[in-house]
This record gives sequence, structure tokens and C-alpha cells, in this order.
Amino acid sequence: MSLQEFAQVKTHQEISPGHYLLTLRAPRITEVARPGQFVHVKCSPAMDPLLRRPISLHYINKAAGTITLLYHVVGRGTQLLSQVREGETLDIMGPLGKGFTLPDKPGHVLVVGGGIGTAPLLPLVEALLEKDHRVTAVMGARSEEFLLGIDQLAGLGAEVHLVTDDGSRGHKGFVTDLVERIITGERVDFAYICGPTPMMKATSRLFIKAGIPGQVSLEERMGCGVGACLACVCKGQLPATSYTSFDYKKVCVDGPVFNLEEVVWDE
Ligand SMILES: Cc1cc2nc3c(=O)[nH]c(=O)nc-3n(C[C@H](O)[C@H](O)[C@H](O)COP(=O)(O)OP(=O)(O)OC[C@H]3O[C@@H](n4cnc5c(N)ncnc54)[C@H](O)[C@@H]3O)c2cc1C
Ligand code: FES
Repeated sequence: MSLQEFAQVKTHQEISPGHYLLTLRAPRITEVARPGQFVHVKCSPAMDPLLRRPISLHYINKAAGTITLLYHVVGRGTQLLSQVREGETLDIMGPLGKGFTLPDKPGHVLVVGGGIGTAPLLPLVEALLEKDHRVTAVMGARSEEFLLGIDQLAGLGAEVHLVTDDGSRGHKGFVTDLVERIITGERVDFAYICGPTPMMKATSRLFIKAGIPGQVSLEERMGCGVGACLACVCKGQLPATSYTSFDYKKVCVDGPVFNLEEVVWDE
């Protein structure tokens, strides 16, 4: 079910250069929202930009009727969004897309995030811990100032490992270095990935090779957000019995969360 709501801005703050936390009071959307879903945000009351912008649910507070978004400014839409003030209202549609599926039985779950891709992982980790999973998180970013939501993850009870490109905090290198070390050293029952495409592709391959089931949350440019315009299609794997190897999936309605083996990564 997707709803349109005029959400009141409760808080809006820049938490690191160009990165914002935005809390909106949207009780109807919040009530039905699940980890991994997103809202489609009208960044300006004017006609330009015409299209809404998809932003993941970073925190879902059912008791307060609020959702929190974590976003970074990359272009005109997010630049306009960053200027919205507390007390104003934003036109949002949601919750959209299919969220994460939780494993049936409690086990060891590895959650891998890169850059702003950590945004949808906080409510996922909260839901996993509520279901008695042991959660190890590997979070990567360019440098320390872009490692976002780390304290919240650790505060929930996840074991958090950090990676930065420049070595300013945690392991210097790639998240795949630590993922490889963890999956060769101990049993991992399920995995989740969200981050830049090259990182998701490389990490996904590691899990598939190790026979670890999991899910990945994709980011594609979107138009309508509800399956009508085909702006967001990506290649999806078909069963081996099919006469072609892939078909096209709409990230907005078939995803953004897909099982690892469903995604065909472009070479
Ligand atoms: C399901 C989903 C969830 C998302 N969740 C978040 C989130 O939680 N936080 C966050 O900061 N961003 C998130 N994004 C990305 C966000 O939607 C884009 O950054 C935003 O739409 C850019 O709008 P803009 O007008 O500022 O930039 P534009 O002017 O539209 O684009 C600026 C630059 O960013 C690139 N870009 C724009 N959209 C995307 C995209 N979807 N994927 C890759 N590159 C893109 C463009 O190619 C261009 O180079 C999500 C995207 C999807 C599809
Ligand atoms: S954004 Fe229109 S079909 Fe997905």
C-alpha cells in the first residue's frame, strides 16, 4: 500500500558535510513502513524539479509516527531538500518498494554498508536483533567523517567493523577485505548489502561463491516510483530452465531489495 502524506518536518540537521538527517511526522506511512522500503519525496513545491526523489527509510519510529531519512546532497533535488526548515511540510509518497526479508531462524547475519548505502541498514539491524539474530556489520566510507550511523548500530547491539578508503578510521582498504576475512573465519548464515554499485557487485560475488544466501538493496534513477514508467529497470536473473538468461525488473516495485542471485551485474 502506498500513501501520499503531507509530512511535517520535525528536525533537519547537517550531520557531516553535505549529509542530512531529516525527521518527518507521517503517521500513516510510518504505521505500515518496513525496513528496506523508501519514500518518494517532492523536494520543492514548484514544478522544477518535476520528479520526486527516492530516499530510504533510515529510522522508523512507530510510537511517535515519524520516519527519519539520511541523505546526501548530489544534485538539484537534494540541494532543495536540504533547504527545507523545521515546521514546514513535505509532500511524500510511500512506503514504496519491497523491503528486506528476515531469515526464518535466528543465526549469524552479516550486514555490509558503504557510504550513504548505510541509510536503510539501521532499521534492518534493529529488526534482526529483535528476532535474536547475532549481527555483524561491516561499514565502509571514503573517510571517517562519512561513516554515518555507526554509533547507532553499535548502540543497538551489532558488532561493528569499520573500513575507510584513506585509513582515517578502522581498516584501510575495501569492505570486501573484511567480509572475506569474516566469512572464511566463521559461519555466516545470511547477508545484506547496500552501497555503491561496484562494492555491491564485488561483495555479492563473495557471498554467492561462499554459498551464503542474502539480499542487496539497489539504487537506480527513478521516475514514477510505482512501476508505471520503466525508468528504473535493471537486469534480473531467470531460472536456469528459461530460454533466456535474464529479464528486466523494476527496482521501484520488484525491489529495491533483491535476493543476491536475482541480480545480473553489468560487466
Ligand atoms: C530506492 C532508493 C533509495 C535511495 N535512498 C537514498 C538514501 O537513503 N539517501 C540518499 O542520499 N540517497 C538515496 N538514494 C539516491 C537518491 O535518490 C539520489 O541521490 C537523488 O535522487 C538525487 O537527486 P538530485 O536531484 O539531488 O540529483 P540529480 O541532479 O538527479 O543527480 C545528480 C547526480 O547523482 C546521480 N544520481 C541521481 N540519482 C541516482 C541514483 N538513484 N543512483 C545513482 N546515482 C544517482 C546522477 O546520475 C547525477 O550524477 C536512493 C535511491 C533509490 C533508488
Ligand atoms: S520508477 Fe517508474 S517504473 Fe520504476
